[in-house]
Amino acid sequence: MCLKDKIEKSKLPKHVAIIMDGNGRWAKIRGNKRIFGHKNGVKAVRDVVKGAGELGIKYLTLYAFSTENWNRPKIEVNALMSLFITAVKNETKNLIENNVKLSAIGELNTLPSNVQLNLNEIISETKNNSGLNLILAISYSSKQEITEMVRKIAEQVKSNTIKTENISPELISENMQTAGIPNPELLIRTGGEYRISNFLLWQISYSELYFTETLWPDFNKKLFFEAIYNYQQRERRFGKITEQLDNDAEEKS
Ligand code: IPE
Ligand code: IPE
Ligand code: MG
Repeated sequence: MCLKDKIEKSKLPKHVAIIMDGNGRWAKIRGNKRIFGHKNGVKAVRDVVKGAGELGIKYLTLYAFSTENWNRPKIEVNALMSLFITAVKNETKNLIENNVKLSAIGELNTLPSNVQLNLNEIISETKNNSGLNLILAISYSSKQEITEMVRKIAEQVKSNTIKTENISPELISENMQTAGIPNPELLIRTGGEYRISNFLLWQISYSELYFTETLWPDFNKKLFFEAIYNYQQRERRFGKITEQLDNDAEEKS
């Protein structure tokens, strides 16, 4: 039985988030420039998106560029911006064929206007697709997203739209860029670093974490299936004890 068949369809995560790390090191090992790694990373994106669609996963969020990444050498930042444009252009047909709906989170207005233009175009071209929701985090910072949420709620309190006692975790979620999107049950980070790097801090409060040494350009749908399979072997207790989970399952059935 192949790995994909071992995955239980009834226990699929609705939302998987991925920190795609390791492109630079992948290129360096091969004696190439960092951008060569980023270019090869696009192939891994294509394969993983395909795999997520095959399984029937509803949401896939990919961390493509953090606000901190603006501090990289200008030559790399520029090359990444050009790559976003070509990748978006080249993948549009593929995404439409695969019924993928694309959206983006992050401080999108800080992106060069031609990147924004291309991104908006593909978002609008795929808006009626009903398969996988692919969410790109570009120029994204979780702390910035949380700051904006606080601002929005503060404004609503100021204008008497809401009362302070009505501020709840649900209201907070509704005022994040990820409003309406379920929290990721699984967060994958490639590239062997064991950190979150300012990604979805609020949304991953109870996510299962999966770290792999594999550098992002070497990641593929088979390794993605492996992560999903690994996730399915875990017991998610949410503060309870195992015996209670058995009872909960019995009560449900
Ligand atoms: C991740 O790979 C891609 C981006 C952050 C844009 P890196 O570029 O961080 O690769 P390493 O970590 O230097 O190998
Ligand atoms: C995190 O990777 C951001 C993305 C994958 C887009 P980095 O390589 O920028 O993270 P740090 O700097 O190692 O924390
Ligand atoms: Mg890195």
